[in-house]
Amino acid sequence: MSEKNTLTIIDNRTGKQYEIPIQNGAIRAIDLRQIKLSQDDFGLLSYDPGFENTASCKSSITFIDGEKGILRYRGYPIEELAQKSTYLEVAYLLIYGEMPSKAQLQEWIRNITLHTMVHENIKKFMDGFHHDAHPMGMLVGTLGALSTFYPDAKDIFDMQSRTKQIYRLLGKMPTMAALAYRHSLGMPYIYPDNDLSYTENFLNMLFKPSPSTKYDPDPVLSKALDVLFILHADHEQNCSTNAMRSVGSSYADPYSCAAAAAAALYGPLHGGANEAVVRMLKEIGSVDRISEYLEQVHAHKKLLYGFGHRIYKNYDPRARIIKELAYKVFEVTGKNPLLDIALELERIALSDEYFLSRKLYPNVDFYSGLIYQAMGFPASMFTVLFSVARMAGWLAQWQEEILDKEQGIARPRQIYIGPATRSLQ
Ligand code: SDX
Repeated sequence: MSEKNTLTIIDNRTGKQYEIPIQNGAIRAIDLRQIKLSQDDFGLLSYDPGFENTASCKSSITFIDGEKGILRYRGYPIEELAQKSTYLEVAYLLIYGEMPSKAQLQEWIRNITLHTMVHENIKKFMDGFHHDAHPMGMLVGTLGALSTFYPDAKDIFDMQSRTKQIYRLLGKMPTMAALAYRHSLGMPYIYPDNDLSYTENFLNMLFKPSPSTKYDPDPVLSKALDVLFILHADHEQNCSTNAMRSVGSSYADPYSCAAAAAAALYGPLHGGANEAVVRMLKEIGSVDRISEYLEQVHAHKKLLYGFGHRIYKNYDPRARIIKELAYKVFEVTGKNPLLDIALELERIALSDEYFLSRKLYPNVDFYSGLIYQAMGFPASMFTVLFSVARMAGWLAQWQEEILDKEQGIARPRQIYIGPATRSLQ
């Protein structure tokens, strides 16, 4: 193999030859601009709808090998983190790059716990939502509104200010998610209980029958939720993280960035897929109707939600862990009746030419909804749970971008295919 880390391009339109450096397995798109037909020619662009083959940044947070089904946060395999750490430890790892010491973890948890309360006015505009408002719509709106309560968040280049917003967002996400859920049920809000762990407190705010009754979150369920949060914490440059970075690139405050990220996650092709999976399984209704549904998928009339991934062309390692976790949860909650349909659907799809030829495998969303549903969550809350977990990754990626000297405002080019110049009569 040659030592020359360059690409030689011959423009057959002009016969000119160009030498373009290759770094980190990539060429800089801007190096294509020198390839011109004439001096006043703009030069070549790279065209990549959906960013199928475009690196938008350099990042040291998360590594994915889609062919091998590998996922690592700051070098640690997701399987180890799911087994040996907690969500708040992983949040610290994603944001600061190293696992926290015992003292650092205590300080981290104390600071986040101090920020679990929300301003009383947040409850007032939660009440303003319609009784059947989708909790994700409520969360997106509330995240944006938080920027009006913390004007200091605009000081994004001050580390202390960034750290405070990170505490606030990690602390308040479960509270806001629980407010949205309780609003949708017309139940009284439950305040945070700072004596509980992160997921125990979340379950308490969600499921405590009333302010005056005792509620002890099941330890198996709070542990399972903690593992699910670890699995959903980050996933390199996915659609919602791209939104977080893109809005962050204009130096907007982190609450406005998080509102954009949550809005992107809401879509059924992204974080909304967990809700779509359960609705799909309900629509299929029984094991003997799977082949009828798959015929519609083969005809491109329906999607098999929870399958396929832009990066994973193998089994999503998170889906494997979640599938095992489901059995532990079902020991407490009772088996989700939709599980048999999901297992049979997976078994058939994994030997179906349509899916094999396109390398479509179960992704993180295929089984997660079954666990959430068995834990008592309605499908409309599934993506809210995804958002609570992904907040750690969004913040880590947002901060990494702000500190990256190579980054500038996200402003892609286009290929114009509209009308040539014309004038009004
Ligand atoms: C998440 O990016 C991330 O990291 C996201 C995520 C994270 O942690 O942030 O991992 C979370 O979003 C997981 C993905 C959840 N979405 C779904 O489960 C929705 C169903 N999946 C598809 O919409 C699709 O697989 C995507 C959107 C996930 C990926 O789409 P791509 O990479 O753009 O691939 P594509 O749409 O071009 O599909 C290639 C082919 C097409 O068929 P042909 O045109 O070649 O004939 O595969 C087909 C697609 O029609 N296809 C599917 C399918 N997924 C792809 N056909 C049926 N069912 C599916 N699920």
